[in-house]
Amino acid sequence: MDIEELRRDTPGCVGRTHLNNAGAALMSRQTLKAVTSHLELEARIGGYEAAAAASETVEHTYDALARLVGADRDEIAFVENATRAWDMAYYGLPFQEGDRILTARAEYASNAIAFLQTARKHGVSVEIVPDDESGQLSVDALRGMIDERVRLIAVTHVPTQGGLVNPAVDIGRVAREFGITYLLDACQSVGQMPIDVAEIGCDLLTATGRKYLRGPRGTGFLYCARSMLERLEPPFLDLHAATWTGPDSYEVRADARRFENWETYYAGKIGLGVAVSAAVELGLDAIEQRVTELAESLRRRLRALPGVLVHDQGQRRCGIVTFTVAGHDPHHIADQLRAQRINVSVSIADYARWDLEPRGLDAVVRASVHYYNTHDELDQMCIALPSATAHD
Ligand SMILES: Cc1ncc(COP(=O)(O)O)c(C=O)c1O
Repeated sequence: MDIEELRRDTPGCVGRTHLNNAGAALMSRQTLKAVTSHLELEARIGGYEAAAAASETVEHTYDALARLVGADRDEIAFVENATRAWDMAYYGLPFQEGDRILTARAEYASNAIAFLQTARKHGVSVEIVPDDESGQLSVDALRGMIDERVRLIAVTHVPTQGGLVNPAVDIGRVAREFGITYLLDACQSVGQMPIDVAEIGCDLLTATGRKYLRGPRGTGFLYCARSMLERLEPPFLDLHAATWTGPDSYEVRADARRFENWETYYAGKIGLGVAVSAAVELGLDAIEQRVTELAESLRRRLRALPGVLVHDQGQRRCGIVTFTVAGHDPHHIADQLRAQRINVSVSIADYARWDLEPRGLDAVVRASVHYYNTHDELDQMCIALPSATAHD
């Protein structure tokens, strides 16, 4: 990986240290150009006409996404974000009273709220699989919780609030052994590590464009395994997802685009295709190696600072680094760093009630690295940190 060249192709690397890649990573010049060129084309010749002119490029995005996760192109739906992708899958599942949903401590807040809504409306029980001693989902505990009433295993691969990587492949083995639907929220993992849906054994996988994939905002996708397609009716249908075949009849599309709707962000879809192709070309193994090396190095530097506690759990960790500084408000630290042109974010317990709250954490600073970050930037952040906390 030629980091200098990759940085030259990333306008956001100039004059700012961007360590909020788990929020939204920096687009490359090429992705930016693809998006703006299409918007310019729309402005010049008309939106529908631009879509027709770019139809091949738009279609390429499905191939790129399919290649990225080891799927077929007809198993991919392009939607506006990861939450909508997840919702389109989840709310299509037919739950009945007494069904059980098994999930993880580190589950994303929106998913947890959706489970609780289903519990309220349909009387399902939502059960959190305990963590093992490392803080990742315990696969043994999961296995011990399975019975014939378990309808869904839904797990977040990498949580928004920590560097943990849940053991998605081992969870998939359990799901397959017992024939249980497996929905993986891969929003934070796609783009920073290799993802292979066949190896993971998930039926459904969701992700966003703007995070580790470096795509434009307002983009996301759903993978739905072919074996699941006929069994999963989308909660919403429109004239793109289905055909109105007669006055009283309609037919749902056979492919995963049944989860899409007609109007869509064409420029974003094209930009996402460019970003995904770039990630595949760089190689997800190489990306993961660089990202985890930077993140581990940042954790080491932080641990060496007085009063700093690093909170990342799990046996395998990724590019998200979370920490607190004794006696200092994480929001204040983030504000102070931003004033020095260093972007980090804060994860709060309100968004991670099953995870941060039991660990006695109200909030943590989140510094998330990408491959284009440098060791110099990590040094800058650590040097800036004592002054960020000094006036608190
Ligand atoms: C683990 C996880 N899942 C889902 C989402 C939601 O993604 P989006 O904002 O694209 O809907 C996020 C966003 O932070 C996330 O971290």
